[in-house]
Amino acid sequence: MSTREAFACHPDNAVIWHDDRLYLLDQRILPEEVRFVACNRALDTARAITDMVVRGAPAIGITAAYGVVLAARERFRADGADWREGIRADIELLAASRPTAVNLFWALERMRRLIDALEALDPTPPLLAEARTIHQEDIAANRTLGDFGAELIQGPTDIVTHCNAGALATGGYGTALGVVRSAHAAGKIRMVYADETRPWLQGSRLTAWELVQSGIPVTVQSDNVAASLMAGGEIGWVIVGSDRIAANGDVCNKIGTYALAVLARHHGVGFMVAAPSSTIDMGVASGAEIPIERRDADEVLLCGGKRVGPAGVAAHNPVFDVTPAALVDCIVTELGVLRQPDAEKMRALMEGG
Ligand code: MRU
Repeated sequence: MSTREAFACHPDNAVIWHDDRLYLLDQRILPEEVRFVACNRALDTARAITDMVVRGAPAIGITAAYGVVLAARERFRADGADWREGIRADIELLAASRPTAVNLFWALERMRRLIDALEALDPTPPLLAEARTIHQEDIAANRTLGDFGAELIQGPTDIVTHCNAGALATGGYGTALGVVRSAHAAGKIRMVYADETRPWLQGSRLTAWELVQSGIPVTVQSDNVAASLMAGGEIGWVIVGSDRIAANGDVCNKIGTYALAVLARHHGVGFMVAAPSSTIDMGVASGAEIPIERRDADEVLLCGGKRVGPAGVAAHNPVFDVTPAALVDCIVTELGVLRQPDAEKMRALMEGG
């Protein structure tokens, strides 16, 4: 692929491996600027995840997998055949970059398992092949689950989405926005209402940018508009992604998702969660066990670089919440669709039953 093709201005290009380097589309400065950050080491990659250059559960996992490739190259150059210990330390560094999205730990575990089985002198080529596979599998999963989700939509209708669960948040195509893309192609989407998603504004900055780039009708609304919009009776579905789904079907996603689920149930609007199976964590029994990231108070107290709270005030900034399974109408994955999810259905899905 030519450099020009690799860096084309396209939402699918959030995570790029090109010329032996990892490039991340800087999601902190979209939509004003399209610029890439280059990562040469595992340390750069972990910092980029923590600082939200790249964000969104599947994209974080894919990025971390490429981070392990960078670690392998660096450690093999420095330590030759004794590369294993150094890579293990770098994997710990990557694992500490963000706490909630399980795709991060899932991808690192997959890389770790390969490392344990490797006999090659230079670990870089097989680890790069695995990272590329993780990336390609995510895109394929999103296309499949996008089509599954679209089948559930009786169109044409309006939908509400929250945060960014699109191509930018994944290997490409998107989860919630993957469903939107497939449904739009089938003529089922009249309008996508994108919650702006305070405080980081993933909805207005990223989802709106991505849908405008893709020619899908989108309207940004402040987060507090959803109730009156649903009362108007034109909304068919709320469609969101997830950072971690527990073994009982509880769904952890961007703060504000739980409020939308309550509103959807009250107004008789469908509530759909779209996520690849790499987002399902059968190791946590319920949402109560999921670690919820808390970020800096300034994300709430500053807006567009301007202070919007008085000096000395505290800010409560949990960046995810948990929607109980009872409020979820369906979880759509590449393995199939679960209606009214519960522990038994989750187990059957993950065991292929
Ligand atoms: O803090 P972020 O921007 O990483 O949070 C992202 C979300 O909450 C997304 O909705 C979730 O990761 C699903 S992405 C397909």
